[in-house]
Amino acid sequence: MRIDFHAHILPHADHGSSSVESSVKQLEEAKKAGVDFIVATPHFYPYKHNVDSFLHRRNRGYEKIKTKLDELQIQCRLGAEVMLCEGLENLEGLEKLCIDGTPVMLLELPFREITPRLITSVCNIMEMGIVPILAHIDRYTVKNVNSVLRVGTASQLNAEAFFRIFKRGKAIKAVKHGVIQALGSDAHEDRMNCYSEFARALKKIGPEHESRIMQSAADLLNI
Ligand SMILES: [Fe+2]
Repeated sequence: MRIDFHAHILPHADHGSSSVESSVKQLEEAKKAGVDFIVATPHFYPYKHNVDSFLHRRNRGYEKIKTKLDELQIQCRLGAEVMLCEGLENLEGLEKLCIDGTPVMLLELPFREITPRLITSVCNIMEMGIVPILAHIDRYTVKNVNSVLRVGTASQLNAEAFFRIFKRGKAIKAVKHGVIQALGSDAHEDRMNCYSEFARALKKIGPEHESRIMQSAADLLNI
C-alpha cells in the first residue's frame, strides 16, 4: 500500500485546493503515482480556527470528492495539520484533530526557535494520549527537529526534500537511519508535480525502505 500521509486535497478546506476540479486533478496525479491511501490534512491554526467549524469545513470538502475517491479506488482518512503553539494542549476539542480512528496528530512546528514552553506543550499533548507526528521535518533545522523528536514524537518527511539541493543528503540519511515513519506529498494545487516527486522519491529510496516506511505509516493508522 502506498500511503501519502500529508496532503491538502480537500476542496475549500484550506489553500490546498480552491475547487473540486483542482482536487480531482490532484487525485488523478496521486493515482498515477501509485498512491492508494491519502491522509487529508488541511491546515489548522489554533489562533485562527475553531475546531468544530474546521471539522465542518473539512468534512464538507471530503463529501465533494468522495465519489472521485471511490472511482479511483483511493482510500482517504481525515486529519489535520495542526500548528504547534504554546498552550495548544488547552485547546477545547483538540483530540478531534487526530487522524480519524487513531490517536495520531500531524503537528507542524513554527519557523522560530523551539522554546522549552513549546516542548512542554508537546509533552502535555502526549500525556493526553495523543501521538504527535512531526510534519515535513525536512523544513526545519536539525536542532529544532531534534529538540522535539527527543521527547518521543514520530516524524514525517516530504517527498520534495529528495529534489532540493541542500536537503536531499539529509533526507536520504534520515530514511536510511530509520528516523522517518511516514512520507507525504504535502500536495497543494499550486504544486501539481508533488505526486510525480512522491513516486520518484520512493524509487530513489528503493523497495526495502519504501516497504518499511509504508508499514510504519500503516501501523500509525491502524490499518
Ligand atoms: Fe502541509
